[in-house]
Amino acid sequence: MASLPLFLVVFLVLRGGLISGQQNSDGIMEREELLGLFEVLGGLLEDPSWAQDHPQPCDETPWPGIQCEIGDENPPSFHVTKIHIGPDILTPPCKSSASLSSSLLKLPYLKTLSIFNCFLTTPVTLSPSLFGALSSLETLALVSNPALSGEIPPELSKITNLRVLSLSQNNLLGNIPREIGGLVRLEQLDLSYNNLSGELPQEIGGLRSLTILDLSWNVLEGQVPSSVGQLQVLQKIDMSCNMLRGLIPPNVGQLKRLVLFDLSHNLINGPIPETLSGLENLEYWVADKNPINSEIPQFVGKLKNLISLSFSGCGLIGKLPNSLSSLKNLSSLSLDNNSLNGTVPTSLGTLPKLDQLNLSNNQLSGALSLPEDFIGRLGKRLDVRGNNGLCAINPLYKKKGISANLISAPVCLNASGATNDTALAGEDKEPKVSERMKPFGQYPVENNSSGSPSNSNAKMVSFGFVVCFLCLLL
Ligand SMILES: *[C@@H]1O[C@H](CO)[C@@H](O)[C@H](O)[C@H]1NC(C)=O
Ligand SMILES: *[C@@H]1O[C@H](CO)[C@@H](O)[C@H](O)[C@H]1NC(C)=O
Ligand SMILES: *[C@@H]1O[C@H](CO)[C@@H](O)[C@H](O)[C@H]1NC(C)=O
Ligand SMILES: *[C@@H]1O[C@H](CO)[C@@H](O)[C@H](O)[C@H]1NC(C)=O
Ligand SMILES: *[C@@H]1O[C@H](CO)[C@@H](O)[C@H](O)[C@H]1NC(C)=O
Ligand SMILES: *[C@@H]1O[C@H](CO)[C@@H](O)[C@H](O)[C@H]1NC(C)=O
Ligand SMILES: *[C@@H]1O[C@H](CO)[C@@H](O)[C@H](O)[C@H]1NC(C)=O
Ligand SMILES: *[C@@H]1O[C@H](CO)[C@@H](O)[C@H](O)[C@H]1NC(C)=O
Ligand SMILES: *[C@@H]1O[C@H](CO)[C@@H](O)[C@H](O)[C@H]1NC(C)=O
Repeated sequence: MASLPLFLVVFLVLRGGLISGQQNSDGIMEREELLGLFEVLGGLLEDPSWAQDHPQPCDETPWPGIQCEIGDENPPSFHVTKIHIGPDILTPPCKSSASLSSSLLKLPYLKTLSIFNCFLTTPVTLSPSLFGALSSLETLALVSNPALSGEIPPELSKITNLRVLSLSQNNLLGNIPREIGGLVRLEQLDLSYNNLSGELPQEIGGLRSLTILDLSWNVLEGQVPSSVGQLQVLQKIDMSCNMLRGLIPPNVGQLKRLVLFDLSHNLINGPIPETLSGLENLEYWVADKNPINSEIPQFVGKLKNLISLSFSGCGLIGKLPNSLSSLKNLSSLSLDNNSLNGTVPTSLGTLPKLDQLNLSNNQLSGALSLPEDFIGRLGKRLDVRGNNGLCAINPLYKKKGISANLISAPVCLNASGATNDTALAGEDKEPKVSERMKPFGQYPVENNSSGSPSNSNAKMVSFGFVVCFLCLLL
């Protein structure tokens, strides 16, 4: 109970201060700051009488889009620290000619400015004189504003307190200014879904507090700068859907805290540097649709925390590394639409969390011998279609309702595998023949010296026919 009187004292002192502040000046807010707030909101909101309806927006007539804090001056007064316009603040709506008033400069305590879905038709740009001077800002989020266009001004880098910079889903264009690397306190940089072009500046390596870097869905070119490797606390890199090319810089492997790495839909080449084995916390590695055109590195098995590995359409060659089977947390593996050959390691079917396995459209061959419980668990999420050399040894594959995506794999036709498949009833069961004659239905299993046919299905079918024909003659 000792704390109650103390609380009361504090409250009374505070309240007394406020009341006397109100008596001494035009209110419990500096007049200049209050007017600045009215002008800023007047530039944004549809309702012309907003100021009359909220004469004391920090105190007696609050509005959910505004937050204030009491300053420590004497007498204390309120300061606007946050302006937020977004889908959670419905009334009044933004006006169609919404703009950013330079009166923002009258709000020297503003820490957060977030405006979502407000600049829809009348063009708005990021004025250098304005943003260069908002030095108190910690969060600047201007998101989903189709009429926000023009370039990112280098002056933005003068907001040295900035921790969050999100300019996602606008219509910004031009280069990412190199000066941005001076934002040493920046923790999140999200410039996704714009029309930003040019190369990424090396200076980006100066963002030493950065945990999230999202540059996806722009038209960025050139290489991923090696300085990205200096961002020691980075947890998420999303550079997907750009035109980045060249190799992944080896120092990316220094990012010990990286959890997500998405470079999908770019022009990145292989081979993948061995140093990436240092990404010990990586959980999501997405690189779909890049001309990597090399092998899956053996070290992938060292990335023990991987949950999702996705390299669809990357021109991958060579074999599926056995080391994949040490990824005990792997839940999704997408290697479809590549040129992988060799066999499917049975050990993949022992991964306890694997729930999605897409190996379709490759040149895998041999017998697919995955455990029955695995096949049952994945159902249609196991996709091995489009591997002409693959056959199934397990009659379960043929059972109804197991997996439409497996049905296409023919049952391996050797002595023991064939005997119990009803689909074969009536076919020639002479062991010598069934050992050599592999075509089943329209899915011939190729002979190993014709091992890497680039899907010349027709050729293999006719080869199958020739063999059958020879068999009949015998
Ligand atoms: C992006 O920029 C290019 C050229 O600068 C232009 O042709 C294209 O229309 C722009 N796209 C959008 C969505 O603004
Ligand atoms: C796998 O996942 C579990 C639970 O999500 C987690 O505790 C563990 O650290 C992860 N990594 C490895 C290598 O098991
Ligand atoms: C496979 O990759 C090729 C070339 O990369 C592409 O044209 C094709 O659409 C992809 N197929 C699928 C099913 O994604
Ligand atoms: C698999 O592909 C690699 C590279 O394309 C090739 O060198 C190798 O001979 C192929 N192996 C088989 C069994 O087809
Ligand atoms: C596997 O990948 C192919 C593209 O290569 C896609 O068409 C198919 O839907 C995927 N299968 C599953 C089960 O997701
Ligand atoms: C039939 O093929 C499967 C898969 O290659 C193999 O495990 C099995 O031993 C073969 N049986 C005979 C009799 O060759
Ligand atoms: C064939 O099926 C029968 C009954 O389903 C079973 O008893 C027998 O062991 C099977 N033979 C082989 C070789 O799998
Ligand atoms: C391919 O054929 C050669 C010779 O017939 C044989 O020694 C080799 O084991 C075969 N390879 C496979 C993968 O069947
Ligand atoms: C296929 O295998 C047979 C028997 O092992 C061999 O005679 C032949 O050369 C191989 N290659 C082709 C393309 O048929």
